[in-house]
Amino acid sequence: MSASNDHSPVSTPLPTAAAKAFPADFVWGVATSAFQIEGAHDADGKGPSIWDTFCRQPGVIADASNGDVACEHYARLDEDLDLIRDLGVQAYRFSVSWPRVRPTGDGEWNEAGLAFYERLVDGLIARGLKPYLTLNHWDLPQALQDRGGWGDRATVDRFVEYAMGIARRLGHKVVSIATHNEPWVVAQLGHEKGVFAPGLKDRRLAAQVSHHLLLSHGLAITAMRALELKASLGIVLNMAPMYPASDTDEDRAAARLEDGRLRRWYMDPLFNGRYPVDVLHDLGEDAPRVSPGDLDQIRVPIDFVGINYYSRGVISATGAFDNKTSGLELTDMGWEVYPQGLTDLLVSVHRDYPGVKRLYVTENGGAFPDPLGSDGRVHDADRTRYLDTHIAAVGDAIAQGVPMGGYMVWSLLDNFEWASGYEKRFGIVHVDYATQQRTPKDSALAYRDFVRAQLSARQD
Ligand code: FCB
Repeated sequence: MSASNDHSPVSTPLPTAAAKAFPADFVWGVATSAFQIEGAHDADGKGPSIWDTFCRQPGVIADASNGDVACEHYARLDEDLDLIRDLGVQAYRFSVSWPRVRPTGDGEWNEAGLAFYERLVDGLIARGLKPYLTLNHWDLPQALQDRGGWGDRATVDRFVEYAMGIARRLGHKVVSIATHNEPWVVAQLGHEKGVFAPGLKDRRLAAQVSHHLLLSHGLAITAMRALELKASLGIVLNMAPMYPASDTDEDRAAARLEDGRLRRWYMDPLFNGRYPVDVLHDLGEDAPRVSPGDLDQIRVPIDFVGINYYSRGVISATGAFDNKTSGLELTDMGWEVYPQGLTDLLVSVHRDYPGVKRLYVTENGGAFPDPLGSDGRVHDADRTRYLDTHIAAVGDAIAQGVPMGGYMVWSLLDNFEWASGYEKRFGIVHVDYATQQRTPKDSALAYRDFVRAQLSARQD
């Protein structure tokens, strides 16, 4: 990035966050995922993923786009690694595209794909950056979907093979491996609501998918543990604290059930070895089929839980809550800006699940439409404020005793925002999709200066 040369430093970067205390081993990073940035959808032997297929269905992506080109990260790897280095962060969270390294999900491995991720990891290490690897950020090989995808128990075994292939190749170089990113999204948005790949609308299937994702997590962790890697092993979940819209019993019960669906459904089996009774009851006949021993396999010790946080939930029993009336600032996604929710969430996860050893914020950020100005800059004061107040909220959780390991901004680059296509921009670096020009936004410069100040304070 040219940020350190071309732009003057921001004088008071992230002032609210700067007033908080972060531990000396706290890791500052940025995050992306493979499908959202790589492009090169059929290069060098890559197989199609369910997202390649889904994008080709008319009407499912807001701007009728796809991931064929995206940010051309596959071809621009070195430039992007330099960009991350010049941001001065310590860590980069990325995902591996399963069909790039094993095109049909079983059978032959694709050496060109593996070599790409090896170059990525080696390139990070050479630049002094810590690689945080995610195995499944949603881009399942289409060939496995053709045989039932996550609804088919055999996919669990394929995932364990995939995890082991990556762990053997890269596990001794990366600092962290997460099995899945946001299994709730895969199950609910992909298989119940049908708005994400593979676009199915079947509640029973969605529940079964969530069970298979959790089972594959546990089995992959157990298999990878046997390799005695130095990397921390864990999982990344999306969470939002659920607040009742009013103080009525009905709204409180509705908020509790929603918390069950989003958070307890995943955290209870991971840490307590059971599915929450209230959610099972709500699912009724649609509850997943669980084989004897599955829950023991899911509840294996892990080193961390990554939390992706964007906003809160406000739940009313009648579904009547409209966040446009809350008076809070909304992002371009229509999500409320609510930093206090991040503190509340982290504190509650620590309180409710004493088995959690370490928490990371593995994604946090905001979509805002700020354009590239005639001065060649992006003055995204809204995003800068968002980062400032949310990092401060992490500081407040730390002050309350939550064992936090790090914070990663979503996202390094503007990128393919799933069903929203390229219309929503989450990057702290602007991408001009016509030229692939990267321009650090003001938020990137503020984050850079904030991290620099944090790290230099450690040396004093
Ligand atoms: C999360 C996803 C990530 C990104 C952000 C905005 O749910 O993990 O890929 O799309 O939302």
